[in-house]
Amino acid sequence: MEDKTIYTTKEAANYIGVSPSTIYRMEKQIKSPDEILDMFCAKEIDNDWSFIGYKPSDTGKWTHSYHRYPAKFIPQLVERLIDGYVSDKDAHINDPFMGCGTTIVTGISRGFKASGTDINKIACLMTKVKSTPIEPTYLGKKIKQFLSTLSFFEGPQELQFFEKIEPLIPPKHIDRINYWFNEENKNELGKILRVIYNEEDKTIRDFFLVAFSHILKNCSIWLQGSTKPTRDLRKNPTKAYNALRKHLKRMQKGNEAFYNVVPREARENLNNYLNIKIDDARRQPVSDDSVDLIVSSSPYVTSYEYADLHQLSTIWLDLADDLIEYKKEFIGTSYKKYENKKLKSKVAMDIVYKMSKKSKKMAKEIEAFFIDMEEVFDESYRILKPGGRCCYVIGDTRLKGVDILNAEVFAESLQYSNFKLDRIIKREIPLKILPQKRDEKTGRFANNNDANSEAYPVEYIVIGLKE
Ligand SMILES: C[S@@+](CC[C@H](N)C(=O)[O-])C[C@H]1O[C@@H](n2cnc3c(N)ncnc32)[C@H](O)[C@@H]1O
Repeated sequence: MEDKTIYTTKEAANYIGVSPSTIYRMEKQIKSPDEILDMFCAKEIDNDWSFIGYKPSDTGKWTHSYHRYPAKFIPQLVERLIDGYVSDKDAHINDPFMGCGTTIVTGISRGFKASGTDINKIACLMTKVKSTPIEPTYLGKKIKQFLSTLSFFEGPQELQFFEKIEPLIPPKHIDRINYWFNEENKNELGKILRVIYNEEDKTIRDFFLVAFSHILKNCSIWLQGSTKPTRDLRKNPTKAYNALRKHLKRMQKGNEAFYNVVPREARENLNNYLNIKIDDARRQPVSDDSVDLIVSSSPYVTSYEYADLHQLSTIWLDLADDLIEYKKEFIGTSYKKYENKKLKSKVAMDIVYKMSKKSKKMAKEIEAFFIDMEEVFDESYRILKPGGRCCYVIGDTRLKGVDILNAEVFAESLQYSNFKLDRIIKREIPLKILPQKRDEKTGRFANNNDANSEAYPVEYIVIGLKE
C-alpha cells in the first residue's frame, strides 16, 4: 500500500544518515559556513546602493553635519533601508551602535520611535542634539545672545585681556589640554565653555556643547586630517571663537531644515519618540519584541579607538575619570580579551586560528570582538518584533596578512542568534565618505598616503530576519 505520510526532514534525513548538525541546519534553513563563504564570493556589487552622485550637501543635510564622526553612515543608506522595510506609521527603529546618530535622526525625521545606545559619551550627546529639533526663532535668539556675550573676542586683543570671564578649564585634565592647545586657544575655549555652562536651558546648552566639541580638533595642534591622535607642532590652529561662530551658523541652518521635516506630533512629544542611552550594545533600553527595524554599523576590531579619537571632547567636557577603564568598555578595542567565553562562528574560529600564527595577542582581540558581536546579535533578536529585521553594515579587512571576514562572520553568527539570513547587499563605498586605507600592521585606519593596505573599497549590508 502506498505510504501517504509526510515525513519530517529529521525522519527522512535520519534514514539517509545525515549528521544531526546538518539536520538541524536543514530544519532551520541555516546556511553552513561553506555555503556562506560561497555566497559572498558569488556576490556582485549592487550599484544602486553606492549613492555615487550624492554631494556633501545631500549627505550633510539637516543635522547630519553637526559633528564629524569616523565611519559614519550616509543618511541615504539608512533612509533606503527604513523606507524599504518599514510600512507601519508607528514604527520603532533601533541602533545599538548609534555613533553620531544617523539612524536615530532618520527615524525621528520620519516620525518613528527611535532607540539605541553608544558606549561613547560624546556620541550620545551628538545623537541627542542631532535628533532634537529646536523651534528656529527661539534657537536664533539664543545663538545671538550667546555670541553677543562672547563678542569681545571680535575686538582688539588688549580689550580681551580685561574681559573678566573666568576660563573653565577642567583641572584634572590640564596636562592633556596643555599638550593639545596653545595658551591663547586654551583661554578662549575656557571662556566659551564657562558661558555655555551658564546657559540654563539644557537643550540649548547641549546644542552649544556639540558645536564646541566639533571645533576642538581645528583649534588644537591635532594633525589635520589624521584619525590618529598625532600632534603637529607647526600647525596654526583656528581661533576658537571664529570657528564656533561659523559652525553655529551652519548648525542653525541644519536645525531649521530638520525642524521642518520632523512631523509635528514627534517634535512636540519628543520624549515619547527618542529613547537613547549611554550603554553597551548588549543592553538596549527597550522591551522584548518591540522594534521593527535595526540599522547599525558595528565598530571594527582594533581599528578606531573611539575613546582616543574623541579625547579632546572627553577632556574638555570632563566625560571620563579614567581613560583606560573607559576604553575597556568599547567593543573592538585592543584592551579586551576573554578566557571563559566561546565563539560559535566557524568562520570566526578559522580567522582566530590563522591570526594566532601571526600574533597571539591580536588573535585574542579578534576572538573577543566576534564573541561580543554574537552577544549583540542575541540582544537584537530579543528586541525585534517577529517579522522585524536587523541590518548590519560592515566591511571585510586584512590584518597581518590574514583576511578578517567580518561580514561573513556576521552572516553566520546572526543565524546562531536565531535569525534567518534574509539578504546580503554588497556596495561600493564612494571615495571621501570613508577612509579607504588601513595600516596592515596595526589595523588602524590611516591616511591614504601612509597606509599599506586597502581598507573597505566595498562593504556589505548583512540582513537578518526574525521569523
Ligand atoms: C562605526 S561606529 C557607528 C557609526 C554610526 N553608524 C554613525 O552613523 O555615526 C561604531 C560605534 O560603536 C560604538 N561602540 C563601541 N563599543 C560599543 C559598545 N560596547 N556598546 C555600544 N556602542 C559601542 C563606538 O563608540 C562607535 O560610535
